[in-house]
Amino acid sequence: MKRTPLVVGNWKMHKTGTEAIRLIEDLRKSSLPSNVEVAVCPAFTALSDAGSALRDSPIRLGAQDMYWEAQGAFTGEVSPLMLAAAGCRYVIVGHSERRQFFGETDVWVTRKVQAAFAHGLVPILCVGERLEERDAGRTDRIVTEQTEMATGELSSEQVVNLVVAYEPVWAIGTGRSATGEEANRVTGLIRRALGRRSGGASAQTRILYGGSVTPDNAAEVFGQPEIDGGLIGGASLDAGKFTAIVRAASRERGNL
Ligand code: PGA
Repeated sequence: MKRTPLVVGNWKMHKTGTEAIRLIEDLRKSSLPSNVEVAVCPAFTALSDAGSALRDSPIRLGAQDMYWEAQGAFTGEVSPLMLAAAGCRYVIVGHSERRQFFGETDVWVTRKVQAAFAHGLVPILCVGERLEERDAGRTDRIVTEQTEMATGELSSEQVVNLVVAYEPVWAIGTGRSATGEEANRVTGLIRRALGRRSGGASAQTRILYGGSVTPDNAAEVFGQPEIDGGLIGGASLDAGKFTAIVRAASRERGNL
């Protein structure tokens, strides 16, 4: 089953509009390989500048979060309708930093996944266990539950288009990445959990790994058969490092 590799930069709370334009210009100059889909997710305030800088480029635009209503009295929130109008194709949903620092629950994540599809956006659903859950041997249960909960209402066609990112919380921003073998094992588990409800549609779902991916470990991560790309935080802020990671995806997965 051919799944086009996808590498997504999650810029988190970094880069003003001007800085976003500069980073995108650097990425555009670095002639990224054409057999990998690439997306960047700037902060809301930089989406417009980033969208202009990406014009006529194959690099896709994404956002890092959203609310699920299309519009209304929800001070401070941004809607899927607004993201689609700003030129976004992707939206990250349920990132562990949202769950950890902003109290986001599985119920919210489920609504956001559905709202993204309803507005023509592709959700990048993040799942992953915390360190204490891993140490207690609960990784498989947590990841399966998060996946089943957020995707239970999706049609098979939506499961095909969905992107999932397996991001063990203890590996995010810590410099401590999961081994390729372990990341591959959990990714396979996520694919099976998705497949149970979608009649096997998950054979086409792209599942990424995220958590301290760097140019040094990218080949090991992308060399795993279940892993279809990466959600890259820290290393995506540097055009040289991000390009090296995209090239590793191209070498390991590009001609499947
Ligand atoms: P990191 O972040 O690459 O800096 O570990 C990954 C993520 O949070 O998506």
